[in-house]
Amino acid sequence: MSVPPEAGVGRAGGSPDGAEDPVTVVIGGTSGLGLATSVALAEEGRRTIAAARGSARLQQVRTLAAAKSLPLTVHPVDVTSAQSVRELFAHAESQGPVAACVNAAGQNLSRLLLSRRDQNGEWRLHPEEEWRATIELCLTGTFLVGRQVAELMARQGAGGVLVNIASSTWSGSWGQSAYAAAKAGVVSLTRSWALELADHGIRVVCVAPGVVDGTALRDKCAANPGHARFMDRLRERVPLRRFAAESEVAASILHAIDNEYLTGNVMEVHGGGFPSRIV
Ligand SMILES: NC(=O)c1ccc[n+]([C@@H]2O[C@H](COP(=O)([O-])OP(=O)(O)OC[C@H]3O[C@@H](n4cnc5c(N)ncnc54)[C@H](OP(=O)(O)O)[C@@H]3O)[C@@H](O)[C@H]2O)c1
Repeated sequence: MSVPPEAGVGRAGGSPDGAEDPVTVVIGGTSGLGLATSVALAEEGRRTIAAARGSARLQQVRTLAAAKSLPLTVHPVDVTSAQSVRELFAHAESQGPVAACVNAAGQNLSRLLLSRRDQNGEWRLHPEEEWRATIELCLTGTFLVGRQVAELMARQGAGGVLVNIASSTWSGSWGQSAYAAAKAGVVSLTRSWALELADHGIRVVCVAPGVVDGTALRDKCAANPGHARFMDRLRERVPLRRFAAESEVAASILHAIDNEYLTGNVMEVHGGGFPSRIV
């Protein structure tokens, strides 16, 4: 059960200028379910910082926040750089106490371990650089953010919550082994950090969506009929026969932030089960 709104973290209502109000940082907060989460938090009056790399998207969020008068600001970050992550949280701390962080930066890359043979009859192997890039973004990025959040919240001494984003692929998925391995690592980090940080009053929760019906997916399906057919078959294997709305994943993230008895959990948001193999 969620705590009542007035007890949740990060809501405005403290000092007259808001400087004492807690801040929530949403990394990957300029697109997809991270953007949905940033907007949902800000619409509830919580001071929110949406962070990502791309300046055009950061500017779009800034414009959106101004148009809707939301307490939502933006800041650049690249989660694969420890220095960049440090700078983000130094900025966040300058805005007020940091009570919550959601790390939604990530990207799925589908690739078989062995693809079809080339004209010489050789198997095409999963490229090493793609493996390294996926691990760097999805797993090392989670590590760099997690340790910075832990240090900041432990130093502030008021506890807080870190929400990591995994994926239903974490328990194994055909054609996306690097991504699935990285997300399994995110689940494992969540469980270990929940144990290590509980004495600091810091909770660590993982939200693991199935397939999310977002703009990126719709654009990809529109551009590639083969992909659209594949996704139609995948959708039919989901027990609820549909993918998640970004707002449904955002609702679980807000629940993870607000429910003060959640830590070390993996909250699957997958409509009844993710089909790990459909071919
Ligand atoms: N969509 C799904 O079906 C689905 C399912 C399960 C899990 N997930 C997970 O949910 C999360 C969000 O997915 P999404 O589909 O909503 O993603 P998305 O629309 O592609 O958005 C990803 C966000 O992360 C940012 N980002 C990417 N690389 C970054 C980096 N190195 N440093 C900082 N920010 C970075 C992007 O902005 P910039 O590129 O400008 O930096 C963007 O704001 C990911 O972790 C993904 O693995 C998604």
